[in-house]
Amino acid sequence: MPKSLISIHDFTKEEMLHVLSIAQEFEKNKVQPILRDKVIATLFFEPSTRTRLSFETASNRLGARVIGFSDAGNTSVSKGETLKDTIKMVSNYVDLIVMRHPLEGAARYASEVASVPVINAGDGANQHPSQTMLDLYTINQTQGRLTDIKINMVGDLKYGRTVHSLLQAMSHFEPDFTFTAPDELMMPQEYKDFLNAKGIPYRETRELEGNINDCDILYMTRVQQERFTDPMEYEKVKNTYNLTASMLAGAKENMKILHPLPRVTEIAQDVDDTPHAYYFKQAENGVYVRMAIIAYLLGYK
Ligand code: CP
Repeated sequence: MPKSLISIHDFTKEEMLHVLSIAQEFEKNKVQPILRDKVIATLFFEPSTRTRLSFETASNRLGARVIGFSDAGNTSVSKGETLKDTIKMVSNYVDLIVMRHPLEGAARYASEVASVPVINAGDGANQHPSQTMLDLYTINQTQGRLTDIKINMVGDLKYGRTVHSLLQAMSHFEPDFTFTAPDELMMPQEYKDFLNAKGIPYRETRELEGNINDCDILYMTRVQQERFTDPMEYEKVKNTYNLTASMLAGAKENMKILHPLPRVTEIAQDVDDTPHAYYFKQAENGVYVRMAIIAYLLGYK
């Protein structure tokens, strides 16, 4: 089976650091057409702006061609074709598959039936490992290191797949976590068990103000409306946090605000003009990091 990236655990610490160093090369030299003879598929069964477009930009800058879909309703899935058959078919056309799917475990399943590498571009509330790689890249870029970072994860820690992957990745680098969430959206127990087993400190709070000034990274997340089965439950928690510029007065100079985006109401527009806002540059980094992941999985780096 070719090497895929489905969970962040599919990369060792050494592989993560290697891919991050390749990404630094790509940031310095943004067009490197080393994959001219390759075709890459982007199969998006769920909406996306950044992930799909940055994977497609990354593929183009590597010289590869891109095929795919952003709406499975226009494919034979709407006629009842199974995920297995879709993936087996697409495997015959391309050299690598990037897939987003609403079902947890769908990406792992795809990697088991595909004959080419698969990159999980998000499977339900489970994992989003390429986002994690760009988050690590951005943390290193802003702090000059990955070790010994104080990170406050805020918002939807229950359904937010990016925080689950990032927590696991950061576990290699002696982090100190604060989890800020309403009771309904606290970090699931399995991830806290994971930290407990590794002896990694974390604390939980509902309050955002009062938990900003001592962190290096404030990792904001959107409440994931699409994961709620009861719309009333979403209504109760959707506006829990609204970070404004005035709340940043006592933040450390080095503190950067990250967000996988899209944002809704959790970061006010006036935060964009502060030196702490880094989420748009974080999204740009996605291109370099995804170039690196693709090149690595195809054996070119
Ligand atoms: N960060 C992220 O996954 O954004 P998209 O949903 O726009 O791809």
